[in-house]
Amino acid sequence: MTFGRREANMFSVDELKAGFKDIFGGEPFLVRAPGRVNLIGEHTDYNDGFIMPAALEYETRAAVAPRADRILRVHSTKIGVTKEFDLDDPAPQPKHDWTDYVFGVAVALAGAGKRLKGADIMIASSVPFGSGLSSSAALEVSIGYSLLTVAGLPIDTVELAKLCQKAENEFVGMRCGIMDQFISCNGQHDHALMIDCRSLEKRSVPIDPRARIVVANSMVHHELASGEYNKRRASCEEAVRLLAPALGPIKALRDVTPTDLEANKALLSEVTYRRARHIVTENERVIEAAEALAAGDLARCGALMNLSHASMRDDYEISCDEVDVLVDIAQKQSGVFGSRMTGGGFGGCTVSLVEAGAVESFMENVKAAYETATGLKSTIFACSPQQGVGPLAG
Ligand code: GLA
Repeated sequence: MTFGRREANMFSVDELKAGFKDIFGGEPFLVRAPGRVNLIGEHTDYNDGFIMPAALEYETRAAVAPRADRILRVHSTKIGVTKEFDLDDPAPQPKHDWTDYVFGVAVALAGAGKRLKGADIMIASSVPFGSGLSSSAALEVSIGYSLLTVAGLPIDTVELAKLCQKAENEFVGMRCGIMDQFISCNGQHDHALMIDCRSLEKRSVPIDPRARIVVANSMVHHELASGEYNKRRASCEEAVRLLAPALGPIKALRDVTPTDLEANKALLSEVTYRRARHIVTENERVIEAAEALAAGDLARCGALMNLSHASMRDDYEISCDEVDVLVDIAQKQSGVFGSRMTGGGFGGCTVSLVEAGAVESFMENVKAAYETATGLKSTIFACSPQQGVGPLAG
């Protein structure tokens, strides 16, 4: 699926309402939950570390109405099918398809003691699937918000993010961190959020008006992503286990400094050492990048993004040739402060920080040079950070 500016409004409010009427009948209320781009701090979330994402204009939209029974019916406009789920099913099983992201959220909410009610939900999404912009989290969060609203329950967006993450960890089987669900729930207009993934404290970092965030899709999607993701997570856990005897009561790589790691390098295999080095240096880069961005030091923020990419490519080994080419082209453009891969890795999108006045030429040049180098047509857009989940006005 390709994407461009137009698709953010792929389903207008009127179209959502008309579509819902056709499929289920009746008048729905509407919910939106955004995808995200991460400026810096990759794979640090499940190490109790730091991240700096922003919510995007691309979002999942849900049209929702309550039912009198305890059945959930969910219609996907993307594939044109409707699936059912019984809230009273005593042992719900994953089906290993898109419905796991939907019904897994119902299971997680019910598991947390939320008394849910039946609902009809039609979903439409403009978040490009499989491109590292969190289409799954946007779907989960839109469903969670819809179900809590139907049940008349209060919504705590931090709790909702945690329960959607639980759904993905336990029902889908992807051991993701909290980043995607958290920013989809708590995004802030025109700001990135610097989040401490241990305490979940967040600090708003305004995007300097002299710069724009530009996202470019490599159009590469590697199927091995979730297996490799879980392996990276296991390497981090192994590093903690092997370093703990020397470093005392550490809980996560968040508790290890680059100096600690260098001093105890001999305890780790060469690969585990490099995995750990990415995490401990990335945490420091996020903290510094947030300070630089807040202070208007765009050059420093960009330089840290470039270093982050090198670390993901060489130490964490989650990039791929096409993404490296795209980043390399972006980093060479005039008016760019920095560029790196964003998201889980093995393909997907890059994020660049670009001088506001240079954005148009940057997008044109990068697109052309990437096509010449790889034969692939990248879709590129400049984005403005959005609010997290909420009602869609109509
Ligand atoms: C995926 C996961 C996140 C995070 C990123 C990498 O998007 O869902 O939790 O780990 O990868 O930073």
